[in-house]
Amino acid sequence: MNDTFLKACRGEKVDYTPVWLMRQAGRYMKEYQEVRAKVDFLTLCKTPELAAKVSLQPIDILDVDAAILFSDILIPVEAMGMPLAFHDKKGPILGDPVRTKAGVDRLVIPDTEDSMPFVLETIRILRQELKVPLIGFSGAPWTLATYIIEGGSSKNFLHTKKMMYQNPGLFKALMEKITATVIEYLSAQIHAGAQAVQLFDSWAGILAPYDYEKIIFPHVKSAVKALKKFDVPVIYFVNDCAGLLKVVKKCGADVIGIDWRVDMAKAAKMLGKNHSIQGNLDPCVLFAPKEHIEDRVKDILFKAETARGHIFNLGHGILPETPVENAIAMVEAVHKYGRRD
Ligand code: CP3
Repeated sequence: MNDTFLKACRGEKVDYTPVWLMRQAGRYMKEYQEVRAKVDFLTLCKTPELAAKVSLQPIDILDVDAAILFSDILIPVEAMGMPLAFHDKKGPILGDPVRTKAGVDRLVIPDTEDSMPFVLETIRILRQELKVPLIGFSGAPWTLATYIIEGGSSKNFLHTKKMMYQNPGLFKALMEKITATVIEYLSAQIHAGAQAVQLFDSWAGILAPYDYEKIIFPHVKSAVKALKKFDVPVIYFVNDCAGLLKVVKKCGADVIGIDWRVDMAKAAKMLGKNHSIQGNLDPCVLFAPKEHIEDRVKDILFKAETARGHIFNLGHGILPETPVENAIAMVEAVHKYGRRD
């Protein structure tokens, strides 16, 4: 197996900088669209043979160094008891948003084997097929809380922040339930064969550093600590991380994933030598001419040299409009200019 990705996560010596792309299985690929034309998104997530098939597509087409389970961060939220639907234009909708004590009490901490067996089956199929490591994932507690309280995507996250400020006890009880779910869900993924796990904190950056540190971060730390008892790297991706890095560096994860709004050299300096770094090309750079993509890849590789380890990635998910040949060019450039021999 090609274990360059796992070595980089642990800060061990590698021959070249490994690379994968967040949301690498998706609509920018015609092979994905062909599968999606036949089934809706949730059916795709819940059909192990098909979910495994789309997870594998980018491995061959892009030649990336890691695979990620095909699923969605809202799958365990549905298992907690909220009705979930995806609409093409509006994104995810969760029925009956949780805003009261009765709502929090109604949520369950699901047993993954019982209520999401398809996730574990997808992992087992993938492990038989893959020659690169498989990453399992979950939303981070705060990002999941925003969907649970808002009932979907949001602009100002007012309902979520109102609960946080007006009813801190209830908010804490909700965060504890979500954190327990995240720990159980990722532990089950690791038992099924996931070789690394990533927590997506897509909405961390909408918080004031004060609130992030005092209210949210303790739950991140307890999730990471619980997962660290397994022998697999834990990656914590923090979107819009620039103002939070001083706190984030204390999370205990093996790898910290960063978005593109912070310069790699500055992030590497701030994060120190206790973690590897994953990132951080602006997904929109993949719309630039190939020469420019190469220049930007070289710049990030150079700036990440001071980090303990580097996994090249985008700073957030690849966009559906991205030309596939430009994603391929990016991976080629990382493999060419990231050689360390
Ligand atoms: O990275 C991968 O290739 C694995 C698959 C993956 C998906 N969603 C598939 C998906 C992963 C890791 C996710 C995580 C996810 N889902 C996040 C965190 C990462 C991030 O991007 O911030 C979030 C916030 C979600 C919730 C979600 N799922 C939204 C807001 C949407 C709608 C917006 C959109 O991009 O369409 C989804 C749908 C979704 N999840 C799609 C895919 C491939 C598109 C569904 C389709 O095929 O129509």
